[in-house]
Amino acid sequence: MTEAELYTEYKGVYLPKLTCSPQSLKYFEDFTFRPDDIIIATYPKSGTNWMQYMVSLITNDGDSTPVDTLSNSERAPWLELFQAIALNLEKRPSPRVLTTHMCYNMMPQSFFEAKPKVIYVMRNPKDVFTSYFHFHQIASFLVKPGSSSEFLHKFLDGKVSRGSWFDHIKSWLSADSNEQILYISYEELTADLKASVAKVAEFLEKRLDDEVMEKIAEKCLFNNMKENKVSNYSTTPIQFLDQTKTKFFRKGVVGDWKNLLAAEEAEHFDAVYTDKMKDVEYSFVWD
Ligand code: A3P
Repeated sequence: MTEAELYTEYKGVYLPKLTCSPQSLKYFEDFTFRPDDIIIATYPKSGTNWMQYMVSLITNDGDSTPVDTLSNSERAPWLELFQAIALNLEKRPSPRVLTTHMCYNMMPQSFFEAKPKVIYVMRNPKDVFTSYFHFHQIASFLVKPGSSSEFLHKFLDGKVSRGSWFDHIKSWLSADSNEQILYISYEELTADLKASVAKVAEFLEKRLDDEVMEKIAEKCLFNNMKENKVSNYSTTPIQFLDQTKTKFFRKGVVGDWKNLLAAEEAEHFDAVYTDKMKDVEYSFVWD
C-alpha cells in the first residue's frame, strides 16, 4: 500500500491513518495537560519504550508490580493514538506519564499553558533510520520501506510516518527556555543505565535509594525488557505487528547503521545532516 492509502497529512507531517484517526487527533488537540504531568517526547525508534518503562518504574519507586500489570500503551499512552481516548486519562491521578511523537510546535495549546515536565529522548539519526527501516517491515500501519536506499531517500526528505527527524529534533531543541525539558540520548542510556536512571529521577524530583535505582536499571536492560510480556508487544496481533520477521526488541545497540548503510550512503547521510543541522548549537554525543 502507498503513502496516500496509509497516511494522513497532519500539519505537513505524515501520520498513519490506522493509529491516528481524526477522532484521536481531535482528542490530542483538546487534551488538558496538568503541570505535574510527565511527557515523554520522541521521534520513533529513539528509545521511547525504554523511557516509558524507566519513568514508570521511577514514579512507582522501583516497584514493578503495578508497572508490569499494564502495557506501555496503557501506562504511558501516546496521546495522539486512538488507544488514548478510551483510557479515561482525565480521571487518572497525577503524575500521569504521557507520550508523544509529535513535534514541539504541534503540541496543543494546553501544553504551553501547563508547562509539564518533558523528557526528550534522542538517538543518532543513522541508528534511528536503521531501526525504523526494520520496523517498517513488520508494522502493517506503515508503508513497506522498499530497499534500504529507497527508504533512505524518504527518511532524509521527511517523507515517512512522523515526518522529518531533523524537523522533530530541531523543534524540541528550540523549545521555550521556560519549558522544563530534560534532553537525554539513547547513547547515554546505553553507556550508563544506572546513571541515566539517577538523572531522570533527579529531573522528576524523585528521591530513590541507590539500590532502588540499581533495581530499576536491571529491569530496564535490553534482555529483560525483551522477555517482558508488558513491553515486548508479544500480545499485539500479528496483523498489526508481525514479529516473526524481526522483533520489536531487535538489537538494542549503538552503531548498527554500519550494517545497513553502504559507505557512500553514510557519506550522503552525513552531508544532509551537516546541512540541515548547521544552525543547531547543541552538542550531540554522536557528533
Ligand atoms: P533497534 O531496532 O535498533 O534494536 P522506540 O521504543 O522509540 O520505538 O525504539 C525502539 C528501539 O529501541 C529499538 O532499537 C529497540 O530495540 C530499542 N530498545 C528498546 N528498549 C531497549 C533497551 N532496554 N535497551 C536498548 N535498546 C532498547
